[in-house]
Amino acid sequence: MQDAKTIRISLLGCGTVGGGVLRLLKQNSAYLASRVGAPLVVRKVLVRDPTKERDDACERGWVTTSAEEVLSDPELDVLVEVIGGEQDAGALIERALRRGLGVVTANKLLLARRGPELLDLAVQQGTDLAFEASVGGGIPVIRTLREALTSDWVEQLHGIVNGTCNYMLTRMREDGWSFEQALREAQRLGYAEAEPSLDVDGHDAAQKLVVLAMLAFGARVREDKVPTSGIRTLDADDHRFAARLGYRIKHLAVGRDHRDKVELRVHPALVPEGDVLASVSGVLNAIRVEGRALGPCLLSGRGAGAMPTAVSVVADLVDVARARLAGVAGLATRGIQMETREILPLQEVLSSFYLRFPVQDRPGVLAGIASALGAFGISIEQMFQTNPGKGLVDIIMTTHQARWGNLENAMRTIYNYDFIAGDIRFLPILRDESAS
Ligand code: NAP
Ligand code: HSE
Repeated sequence: MQDAKTIRISLLGCGTVGGGVLRLLKQNSAYLASRVGAPLVVRKVLVRDPTKERDDACERGWVTTSAEEVLSDPELDVLVEVIGGEQDAGALIERALRRGLGVVTANKLLLARRGPELLDLAVQQGTDLAFEASVGGGIPVIRTLREALTSDWVEQLHGIVNGTCNYMLTRMREDGWSFEQALREAQRLGYAEAEPSLDVDGHDAAQKLVVLAMLAFGARVREDKVPTSGIRTLDADDHRFAARLGYRIKHLAVGRDHRDKVELRVHPALVPEGDVLASVSGVLNAIRVEGRALGPCLLSGRGAGAMPTAVSVVADLVDVARARLAGVAGLATRGIQMETREILPLQEVLSSFYLRFPVQDRPGVLAGIASALGAFGISIEQMFQTNPGKGLVDIIMTTHQARWGNLENAMRTIYNYDFIAGDIRFLPILRDESAS
């Protein structure tokens, strides 16, 4: 650091999040300077297209397309990475950490793929890598796990961690929007990733779950090992059927510490209407964490968008800057400890399920389904039948708790029956007995 009384920062990226960060730094500059004990001064802002219209808070003189210009600045203290993606972001962060710079990132994809390695590098270099904005947008969930719950043992967590999916499911259920219409609006509002399949196919939530598992369970796990599914196949009828049974469909990330293994999974699930997660609507996220000593604790707030996410990025900037001024850079990052953990196979997970069978309306169909379920030890809890017409019906069931693997085997058997008229749907149900 050249001048102990100024913290010099540069941004990689000036899109939704980067624009919000610059706006917050400008709006709150005096307040932030008093919190840090020194002004936060922007040096450079890296973008791809220098001609693009930027947020008013982005001064023309800051904008550059040269990563070299940003990284070779001898006066730089902290680098803020908000370009997203793995290759460029990873290379630039690595370079900044090797120089001993503080780094703040919102990039869960990078953290899920290279987080442990980059954290190790930050520790070796005696600097900080901070990532509050990578999970839950403006919700302080990383801080809560890293600091507030450091005295406890987190046994499980589950929550809504993708704002785009939650926004889309809400619009589809409440306003009857199509999948495409809901996605377009989520993109327009700045919630979706540059590559929106990361959101709707569940990968963004899986990456966030990997980051949460690092802090909650000290688990170093591979993103590609997390069983993951998204919201593409759900239709308006599923929302209607779930409502008739007293549930709402939410896209959930679930984690549980089984000591020898960790259970991690991402999928849509039925949530009882009375459960607090059922009323978490729109872009809101909510994460329920359960500590052995603490019991349950719910964190909720805006999970995506420019300003909520900027709040988390700038809060990290304040922490990293303060630590540097106090001569304790790297202290917070050193507190994160992880070991390689195996993920519990999905087939071993216990849950109740919602089942939807599109079938021909003829004798023996129900008996066939019930007998296949029985053969795999699966007990039916509730059932009803709807009539879309043309000799076809939907049979809707919920089950008592069953092993996921048994349910998959039963579905494979039933799928081969000649009365099945389309894709079978099965979704886990969030219940207290398994908190699935
Ligand atoms: P965005 O709107 O697409 O903005 C990306 C910015 O990075 C743009 O300014 C783009 O330049 C620049 N950029 C991208 N690749 C670059 C490269 N290789 N070299 C130079 N500049 C590059 O993305 P965003 O929504 O702000 O998301 C940024 C990060 O925050 C991602 O990791 C995302 O997962 C994370 N995040 C986003 C949200 C959210 O609500 N959006 C919330 C939490 C976390 P141009 O402007 O010139 O194209
Ligand atoms: N695309 C992400 C979401 C941004 O919708 O949740 C916040 O991480």
